[in-house]
Amino acid sequence: MVRTPLVAGNWKMNFDHLEATYFVQKLVWLLRDAKFDYKRCEVALMPAFTALRSVEVLVEADNLKISYGAQTVSVTSQGAFTGDVSADMLAQLGCRYVIVGHSERRKYHPEDDANIVDQVRAVLAAGMQPILCVGESYEERRQGIELEFAVGQVKDVTRDLSQEEVGKLVVAYEPVWAIGTGMVATPQVAQDAARAIRAHVESAFGRGAAQTMRILYGGSVSSHNAQELISQSDVDGFLVGGASLDVEEFATIARLTL
Ligand code: G3H
Repeated sequence: MVRTPLVAGNWKMNFDHLEATYFVQKLVWLLRDAKFDYKRCEVALMPAFTALRSVEVLVEADNLKISYGAQTVSVTSQGAFTGDVSADMLAQLGCRYVIVGHSERRKYHPEDDANIVDQVRAVLAAGMQPILCVGESYEERRQGIELEFAVGQVKDVTRDLSQEEVGKLVVAYEPVWAIGTGMVATPQVAQDAARAIRAHVESAFGRGAAQTMRILYGGSVSSHNAQELISQSDVDGFLVGGASLDVEEFATIARLTL
């Protein structure tokens, strides 16, 4: 089964809604100029909540082929939860994806496995797709337990999901030591992790779910390393942080992922 690669730009806490508008217009222009084939590679942007509506308006007005989504979500659907944003609110804004369990959320917010499972459920129930982030720290890699750790995170989150739900997940393997450090994983490291995750999904949920699931690599992806990384058979695209803030660089990464 052929999986359409996905290049998703995680802007983190960058770009206000005007900067987001400018970025989207320029990205579309650059990709149009390069005759980018959106059927062969999906491009997604993950702005801050405050820029989502601006992105939605642009995408709708010009019928753009860009997907977009949010960086986190509340586990509750409504009520007295100051500062939270529900999955339905995001779906209503046309979000296709929500990043769940990013290591920065796990580190700076009380997001444990139970909370991440609830986020995944909330995203799926609202008809969107979670981009589930997993990946080991430097210490776990030093101990040689990196694959066990990353696969364990996938196991913990998917344990009670149905085969159909798992088929809608996107997994992003993001070793924590590679995030924002310039220390990109080698293609073999990315491949080994992606393969181990896919093998687990196959044994737990069947070949169909495993073959459908897109597994991204994230961590210091740039135009210098994207081509080699995407040549790995189990790497289906990227979750790009820092390099997604430079529109030319991000467009180049998308082109290299085709
Ligand atoms: O979500 C993206 C990751 O945190 C990777 O960030 O590309 O800046 O290393 P980075």
